[in-house]
Amino acid sequence: MHKDSFGLVLTAASAEAAAAYNHVMDGYLGYRADMAPRMAALLATDPECPMAHCLKGYFTMLGFSQALVPAARKAAAETWRLVVAATPREHSHAAALDAWVNGAPDRAIEIWNQILRAYPHDILAFRLAHFMNFWLGRPEAMLASVLEVEKHWSHAEPVYNAILGCRAFAHEECGYYTEAEAAGREAIRRDPTDVWSAHAVAHVMEMQGRRGEGIAWVEGLQANWDGANNLRHHLWWHQAMCHLERGDFARVLTLYDTAYRDLDAALTQAMPDLYIDAQNAASMLFRLSRHGIDPGDRWIELADKAEARIGDCLSAFTLPHWMMALAATGREAAGAAMLDAMRDYAEQSAGLNNILVRDVALPVTEAVLRHGQGRHTDSVALLRPVLGEMYRLGGSHAQQDVLEQLFLDSALKAGLDRDAQTLIERVSGRHPVPPSRRAGYVMAAQYG
Ligand SMILES: [Fe+2]
Repeated sequence: MHKDSFGLVLTAASAEAAAAYNHVMDGYLGYRADMAPRMAALLATDPECPMAHCLKGYFTMLGFSQALVPAARKAAAETWRLVVAATPREHSHAAALDAWVNGAPDRAIEIWNQILRAYPHDILAFRLAHFMNFWLGRPEAMLASVLEVEKHWSHAEPVYNAILGCRAFAHEECGYYTEAEAAGREAIRRDPTDVWSAHAVAHVMEMQGRRGEGIAWVEGLQANWDGANNLRHHLWWHQAMCHLERGDFARVLTLYDTAYRDLDAALTQAMPDLYIDAQNAASMLFRLSRHGIDPGDRWIELADKAEARIGDCLSAFTLPHWMMALAATGREAAGAAMLDAMRDYAEQSAGLNNILVRDVALPVTEAVLRHGQGRHTDSVALLRPVLGEMYRLGGSHAQQDVLEQLFLDSALKAGLDRDAQTLIERVSGRHPVPPSRRAGYVMAAQYG
């Protein structure tokens, strides 16, 4: 019988296979960029390991790409075939992957939570549930999960950093900034390479308007990020957000080209159409456009990638970002085709993501197009009914902010004072920093 690093029974052919599995899990928990060779080594060592195929399916789904779903489906089928003689825990993982592949991420979360009730040391189920709850706009579920699971973990275990990082981020998204920062800083003291904990603290600084500290935080830690995955880009995006708030637009663009939108894959393992990288880039260019900054040709490569992804609706929050690129480059036909494809997707099934696209992503994404066409009254009319629903698309408060800016910009340009006032009141009540101190809202701060 073999066990993984966390003391859980692992169905594997040899101790070498268990070690290869642990190496993959170390990479996943550490946001490492070299996951492909780690997975290849595991599958070469033990081609019949059920959890190896399950991990392959999970990691494939984490790309939130429709083109990758067939590969994930194949991995799920292999997992089912191999899991027959495996443990109940591994069987549950096969069921969670199956649910996810078949369009029921909410069911996958339920199964991961069931696993955690029986096996609170199943850090894989924990991290996946954390991640999926985040992308479904459920910060309270993220926090409830970490508070339940951490009781079973010892601070002495190195992997406790994963718990601290998730607690820090869950607290931050729930608005408990003091607890969030303390947990994040403790994690960084234990392991300065911990990018998820670094990210949680960067969020605290963003939400509290501590721009200089946010810039210095990233500056001081980035030397530890060699070999980390694209989360590095997102951390540099956070740093750029601090520069933006200070009005240093030149620095925002320099970081765009050299850090968070560095397209030289050899340097940063950039994945230029990965959902988070696209969100970072499009949301920043949209914000810059509100300050009259000419981004040059930067929208064009994004718009090309947006066109190539038309019909891929797996990442609902990314859809308005793709549309920002189409709208900014005047690609009207592509914009219309994208909306048609989203409508088709919404009607394909009653899966959670289909519903999210129909009820929230569609009006928001159409509003982005109307805003780009100068049809600001139409943009406001589309957004007004879903202002309170946008959180369901997932993403952090810092990321969701760009959609609130979209509404405000449309309302101001349409001369819809009451809508602008509604938005400012909403933002004033929900964000710790007043509109008068935020670059995207100061022009309407009189409504606060
Ligand atoms: Fe973030």
